[in-house]
Parts: sequence; structure tokens; C-alpha cells
Amino acid sequence: MTDRLFIFDTTLRDGEQVPGCQLNTVEKIQVAKALEQLGVDVIEAGFPVSSPGDFNSVIEISKAVTWPVVCALTRAVKKDIDVAVDALQYAKHKRIHTGIGTSDYHIKYKFNSTRDEIIERGVEAVKYAKKFVEDVEFYCEDAGRTDNEYLARVVEAVITAGATVVNIPDTTGYCLPQEYFEKIKYLKENVSNIDKAIISTHCHNDLGMATANTFNGVMAGARQVEVTINGIGERAGNTSLEEIAMILKCHKGLGIDTNINTTKIYPVSRMVSSLMNMPVQPNKAIVGRNAFAHSSGIHQDGVLKNVQTYEIINPKDVGIDDSSIVLTARSGRAALKYRLNANGVDVDEEKLDSIYKKFLQLADQKKEVTDADVLMIAGADTAASHAVKLDFLQVTTGKGVVSVASIGLDISDQKFEAAASGNGPVDAAIKALKKIITKKMTLKEFTIQAISKGSDDVGKVHMQVEYDGSIYYGFGANTDIVTASVEAYIDCINKFKKK
Ligand code: KIV
Ligand code: ZN
Repeated sequence: MTDRLFIFDTTLRDGEQVPGCQLNTVEKIQVAKALEQLGVDVIEAGFPVSSPGDFNSVIEISKAVTWPVVCALTRAVKKDIDVAVDALQYAKHKRIHTGIGTSDYHIKYKFNSTRDEIIERGVEAVKYAKKFVEDVEFYCEDAGRTDNEYLARVVEAVITAGATVVNIPDTTGYCLPQEYFEKIKYLKENVSNIDKAIISTHCHNDLGMATANTFNGVMAGARQVEVTINGIGERAGNTSLEEIAMILKCHKGLGIDTNINTTKIYPVSRMVSSLMNMPVQPNKAIVGRNAFAHSSGIHQDGVLKNVQTYEIINPKDVGIDDSSIVLTARSGRAALKYRLNANGVDVDEEKLDSIYKKFLQLADQKKEVTDADVLMIAGADTAASHAVKLDFLQVTTGKGVVSVASIGLDISDQKFEAAASGNGPVDAAIKALKKIITKKMTLKEFTIQAISKGSDDVGKVHMQVEYDGSIYYGFGANTDIVTASVEAYIDCINKFKKK
């Protein structure tokens, strides 16, 4: 008999907190539906009191998915719980995730409180949430650095108050795997009513031990894991869903099963990476570009003789189709659609037509169009609906000459042009742009990244621009890095225009 492990996905809450990874509601619905297809049990859809955007996303995700539990985060504060209840009104299965910091660091410095008072506040929050929903999860923030005896008192009290799941986060990613194992074991053995609730893990990756800690938590008796796609999340990230799902699939002998359809892992990973503009490191376990690439001669020889010599996972099991169709200027719409779908992007015929036109332009510049390029084109397609668009950009630059740029913008169907010189091509182009859009904007961060390899490759630019006291994140991708930079700047402008 196998034991069931519940998968609680927090890509849209803990993952989405990462600067630059913010999604709009339409994109969040797209991810939530993909998570439902993937088979996650719980989707943490947001922190409704934190912003109207989060509130609205929880409402819309609740309407969009059917069988997973939709969960909303709150602090142990009545107002937060009221707003979460409101946001969850359309959820078919709903959960409130409330909690408070329990380590002495949090009690003393965050709350200026006492251990007893923190228990009272936690109990009160659970009792209040129980008036509205049956399923209440309680998190003991910084449980990783909370002493086990006190943690057991908190957990016992909130279960008595009605908590159905108790979450033991290693919020700072501090715990050693053995220590985390002992913590969960201690709770199993010392909390008298522990059989009335499910223990959940929630591990951060600051020391690169999130997956090891989560796995050890499960070995000690936790039956829910809180994870994200590609391991995205605060700072060094959270435990990645794909790693836990594949550990349990590869080690069937452990007798622990999840509901994850692992063949959907790769498309969802691509979708999240592309929508959040967050590249996956090439050597990332399960979903990295090199995860199934055998490069050394000895390994290739072994794999050709018998794939099991160096491969513990069949790439097909995680949705990587090794017979991938290579796209070139001669590829048709069907091949493009196939690659888009394989990368988790659904398109109707109209959108396919417009993406196909851009694909042909890129295919004329590059020998081979990669998956990353295809995702970039699909992402850029959404920019077509923006109020401010780049019409043209011409830059003269080189060694020993002053860089000069002339730019044309289309702003709500009106054409504007300007020229400027600057300290390098990007500076000249942005100065020219600022002659048309004269708002007081300050460039705060500027990162350029090549997508894969080759001098004809697409470059990605991430930017942060400050305007009117707020920071806006922009993204651009183009084979020409100056154009990508200007597009990223324009992406920021379109965001504050929307506000
Ligand atoms: O890391 C953490 O402690 C959290 C809680 C809010 C669950 O994300
Ligand atoms: Zn967290």
C-alpha cells in the first residue's frame, strides 16, 4: 500500500513574490490551469490583503480551477482573514492559510511580544478562520529556528483550535536535513493531537538544502509539501515541485505517491519560466537544459549501448520529447504550434498567425530557432497590445565615435520621433526616448543575458525603472541588444501608464 503525499504549490504566492516575476491575472489563471492539469492538490493563489491585484487573482483563480483546493494566505489578523474569505468566495474547495512567527527572533523583534501571547494570537486566528471555512492551515513562520518544545506547544494549541494542516516552514533555509527530520519527528511524537492534522513542510533554499529538508520532513511523517515550479521563490527560492515528484517516482520502494502527472512537468516549467522572465539554470535537476544532455565521450558511449548506464529518468517521463522538431525558416505553422504547445503555450489560430510572422522574421536572421526563441516571440506578441510601442530605432556607434540614436515611438496610434547622443548606444537610445516621454524616470537596474549561445542569439534584458516613488520591472528580448534594452524600458513605461 502506498501513502499519499499532498502537493501544495505556492508558485503563485511565494514564487510570485520574487522581484521581476510578477504576473497579471490572465497569466496567473494560465499557470493555475496548468497546475491543475499537472495534478497539484492545493494551489496557493495569493495573499489577498496585500494588494487589489492579489485579491482579484484569488477570485479569478477560484473561478478558473475545479478540483484543487484554492488557498489564500493571511497573517494572524482578522482583517486579513476577512479579505481572504471574500477572495475565496467562488472556490469549490477553499483553504485559509494563516499563521505567525514563532522563533524568538520573530517574537522579540517583529512582534515585541511573548511566547504565550503568540500562541493566543495564533489560536484566535484559527478560531476566527474556522467560522468561515472548514480547511484551515496554520504556519509557524521561522519554525526552522524555533525550539522544538515551544513549537510543539504552538502546534498542539492550533490543532485544538481547529487547524487541519500545520505548516512547519524553514523560512530562512537554515536547517540541516537531519535537524529538520528531528523537528518533524519530535512533533509526531510529542504533540498529543497530531493525528488530527496533516504536517506540511515549507523549505527555503538559502543553503541549497530545500529539497533535502523537504524529503527528510516526508520521511519523518509530513504528508504535505509546499513547493514551487522551478524552485522559484524568495531569495534562493523554495523546494522545487519537480524534484520532489521525481524523487518519489524514481524511488518507488519508499511507498509514497503523489497525484502529479510527471509528463506535464517540462511544459509547466517552460511556461512559468517564460511568463515570469525567470531563466532556469542549465544544470537544474529535472528541467534544466542540460539535465538529459550527455556530453562526454564515455557517457555518450555508455548511453548508446544502454541508456540506463547514465540515465535514471526517462526524459519522456517529465514531458521532454527527445524527437523535438527543429524549427527553421522552412518550418510551417503546424511545427511552430507543436513547439509552442510542447513549451506550455496555448495559441488560437489568430495568435498563431501573428506569432508565425515574427517567427519567420527571426528565422531569416538565425539558422535554427530554439524553444527559448519561440517563447520569446510568444511573449513579445503580447507587447503588441501596449499603448507605447517602438516604431523604429537606428543607432550609430563604434570605437572612437559618439553614439547617436534616433527613435520612433507609436503612442496610442500617434507617431513621435527624437534623436540624441550618449555614452554608448543604449544610453543614446534611452536619452532619445526620454525626449519623447518626458516623465521623471530613473533607471535602477539593467541586466543583459544571452538566452543560449551563438552570436546570432537572442539577448534578454531585465530593467527596473523608478517613477513616482514606485519601481517597475520591464523585459525585452531581441537579437539586437540595444533594441531589447529600449523594449525593456518601454515595457516599464507601459506598466506605469496602466496604473
Ligand atoms: O517561508 C515562510 O515562512 C512562508 C510562510 C508565510 C508560509 O512563506
Ligand atoms: Zn516561504
